[in-house]
Amino acid sequence: MVQTAVLPPCVAADVQGDLRERSSIAPDPKADHFVEELLGRMTLEEKLGQMSQVALNAPGGEISPEDRVRRGEIGSFLFTTDAGQINRLQHIAVEQSRLHIPLIFGFDVIHGFRTIYPVPLALAASWDPEQAERAQGMAAREASAVGINWSFAPMLDIARDPRWGRIVEGAGEDPYLGARMAEAQVRGFQGDRIGAPNHILACVKHFAGYGAAAGGRDYEESNISDEQLENVYLPPFHAAVKAGAGSLMSAYMDLNGVPATGNRWLLHDVLRERWDFSGFVVSDWESVKSLTTHGFASGPEDAAARAVNAGVDMEMTSHVYRDELPAALKDGTVKQATLDQAVCNILLAKYRLGLFEHPYADVAGAPAQLVTKEQRDAARSIAAHTAVLLRNQGNLLPLSRDVHSMAVIGPLADSKPDTMGPWSLAGHYDDTVTVLEGLRRRFPSGVTIQSAKGVEIDRGAPTIFDALFQSPKPTLTTEAAKEAEFRRAIDLAKQSEVVVLVLGEEQSMSGERASRSSLTLPGRQQELLEAVVATGKPVVLVLLNGRPLDLTWASEHVPAILDAWYPGTEGGNAVADLLFGDAAPGGHLPLAWPRSVGQIPINYARNTTQIPEDPEHRYWDGSSLPLYPFGYGLSYTSFSLGKLKQSAPSVRAGASLAISVDVTNSGRLAGDQVVQVYTHQRSGSASRPLRELKAFKRVTLGAGETKTVTLAIDTNELSFWSPQTHQRSIEPGPFDLWVGTDASASDHSSFTVTR
Ligand code: NOJ
Repeated sequence: MVQTAVLPPCVAADVQGDLRERSSIAPDPKADHFVEELLGRMTLEEKLGQMSQVALNAPGGEISPEDRVRRGEIGSFLFTTDAGQINRLQHIAVEQSRLHIPLIFGFDVIHGFRTIYPVPLALAASWDPEQAERAQGMAAREASAVGINWSFAPMLDIARDPRWGRIVEGAGEDPYLGARMAEAQVRGFQGDRIGAPNHILACVKHFAGYGAAAGGRDYEESNISDEQLENVYLPPFHAAVKAGAGSLMSAYMDLNGVPATGNRWLLHDVLRERWDFSGFVVSDWESVKSLTTHGFASGPEDAAARAVNAGVDMEMTSHVYRDELPAALKDGTVKQATLDQAVCNILLAKYRLGLFEHPYADVAGAPAQLVTKEQRDAARSIAAHTAVLLRNQGNLLPLSRDVHSMAVIGPLADSKPDTMGPWSLAGHYDDTVTVLEGLRRRFPSGVTIQSAKGVEIDRGAPTIFDALFQSPKPTLTTEAAKEAEFRRAIDLAKQSEVVVLVLGEEQSMSGERASRSSLTLPGRQQELLEAVVATGKPVVLVLLNGRPLDLTWASEHVPAILDAWYPGTEGGNAVADLLFGDAAPGGHLPLAWPRSVGQIPINYARNTTQIPEDPEHRYWDGSSLPLYPFGYGLSYTSFSLGKLKQSAPSVRAGASLAISVDVTNSGRLAGDQVVQVYTHQRSGSASRPLRELKAFKRVTLGAGETKTVTLAIDTNELSFWSPQTHQRSIEPGPFDLWVGTDASASDHSSFTVTR
C-alpha cells in the first residue's frame, strides 16, 4: 500500500471575479481541515475507492461488493434503494473499513422516489418554481428515508428537439425558465443547505450540451457555437451552481469534438475557475471508459488520466480509475495533487451532508415515510398544476357534473406504468392511479363508465432498459382481434354521452435511448382518434407524453385537448379533478409545439431574418409557425390584460426595471394565468434573439377578480456573451418589451439601459 503525504488545499484557491458568478456554498474551514487530515491518512487504494461508484441491482451491476467496501475500495453505490441493504453496506463501511469513511448512495430521483410526481418537463410547464421545489423536496424526503443521500437530478439540458427522448427530463427550450427551474429543484433536493434534514444532495446534469444531440439521436455529438453554449446551454447550470448545487454529472457526448467527460475547459475553466464550484463531479455511466470508444483517449490509462485531469472526481460504474490511475501517477500523466483534489471534493460532500455523523437510515421507520397521505396529496395537486389545456372548443371542459355515461378509451387509459412515465424506477405500479381508475373513483355510482383500449401500442425496438419497463404488452395477435377491439371502442363511444380518449406514448417511448424520427401518435392511435371523433360524440383528448406529438389534425377536430404529461402516482385522480373542474388547468408550454417534425428546431428565441415581415411562410409547403407557441396554455376561464406599465423609461445597468400589468379574470370560474415578459435588444455587438423571456409570474384569480401583477426585469439577465467581445456584459442601449401570456405577446413598449 502506498502512503501519500501531499496535502492539497481542498477549496480552490483562486476565488476571484464577480460575486454574482459564484457558488453559494459557504466555505467551511472546519470541514476543509477534517478532510485534509483524513486525506493524509489514506492509501492510494483508499483514495481510488472514494473515486469509484459501483452499481447494485442494475443491469450489469456488481454482485458481492461487501469485501470491497470493507477494504475501502468503494466510495459510492447507485441503484441501491432498499433501506436494509443500504444500512448493511453502510455499517460495513463505517464500522469495518480502516478509515470508517461512509458511503454515499446515489439514485435517479428524477420525479419522485416511491411516490411519483409529474415528469420534469411537466414541472416546467407549471411555470411555478415553488411547485417544482415542492415536488423535489417531497421526493428528497422519501429517498432520504431509505438512506439515499444523492439524487442524479435535476437534468438541466436545454432541449429544442422533441425527437430527443430525454427532452422529458428537462425544463424545455428556454434558458431563463430553465434557470429558474434549476434553482428551484436544487433548493427542493438540498433544502436551505447541503445536509439539511430530510434532504439529499442534488447532481446537476449532463454538463453540458447533451440536449443538442445531432438529429435528436441520443448520445450523438453536439455541435454548439460558443454563442449558443454561453447564452443558452450553460445558464441553467450556472444558476444551479449559484444556488449551491453540491455535485454535477459530466455528459456522455462529444461537445464540439471533445467528449464532455474529458473536457477540461468545461469542467475546470468554466465550472471551477469561472463559477467557483466547490462540489464534486461524477462521470455519467461508464463515460470515463468510453473516452476510448469516442476515439479521444488512446486506451484505458489515457482515458483515466484525461478524465481526472479534466476534473471528473468520481467514476460511475466503469473502473478505469481503479485499474489505471496507479500507472498514470507513476508515469506522471496525473499529478498526485490532482488526484488528491478529486478525493477532497468527494469527502467534502460527504462531510457537508453530515454522513460522518449520521450515516444510517432508520430502517424500521422508513416504510411509514413512503407514499404517505401527504405525499399523495402533494402529488395530486402538483399533477393538476402542471397540466396544460391546449384546446377547449365551446367550453366542453370542465365536463358537466350531470353526465351519466362516459367511455374512457385508449391504450394508456388504464396503464399504471404509462401514467408514471420514464425514470420512475422506485415507484410501485400498485400505488398508481390511472385515468380510468381516477374517473371511476370520482363516480363511485350513478355514472356508467365503460372502457376499451381500442388499439395497443408497442415500442417494438428493444432497449437495454426493457427490464425496467412494464407497460402492458400487446395481447391482440390476430387482425380479427385487433379489429374487434377497435370496433368495441367505437361502439362504446357511440353509447356514451362523452368520450375521454387517453393517448400518447408508453413509458419506454420517452427518456433515455428513446429518440424518434417522427412525432406522430404511435401505432394506430391517430386512426382511433379520428374514428372516435367521427361518432359525433364530445371528445376530450387527454395526452400522456414526454414530448410534443403531432396534434395538427387534433387541433382542428378534437374539441378539448388536455396535456397531462406523465402525471405520476396520483395522475388519474389529478386528471379526474381537472376534467370535472375540481382543479383548473393553468400550466403553459415550456417549449414551442411543432406542427410536424420538419419544423424542428422551432424554438421561439431566434434571431431575425432578412425578411422579418412574414415569419409564417418560410416553407412553401406549410406553415413555419409552431402549432402552439412557447408559453401557451388555456384555462377554464378567460382573462384580459390591461396596458403594461413600467416604472421608468430607462434603467441603469445592474438595476431592475419594474413592470406591472392588471390581470382580470373575466370569466365565471377561478383560474390561473401566467404573465410573461419578453425583451429584445435592438442593437449591439451581436444580433440578439427577437424575443427572450426575462420574467414571469403565475397568479390565481377568482371569477371577476383583478390583480396587479408586478414583475422585475433584472438587467443582469439582459447580459449576454458576445461572439465579438468574447465576454458576458450588459450592453447599454434600447430594448423592446412585450407582456403577454405566451411568446406571441403583443402588448409592446420599450426601455433603454444606461450605463
Ligand atoms: C445514465 C444517464 O445518462 C444518467 O442521466 C443517469 O443518472 C445515470 N445513467 C445513472 O442511472
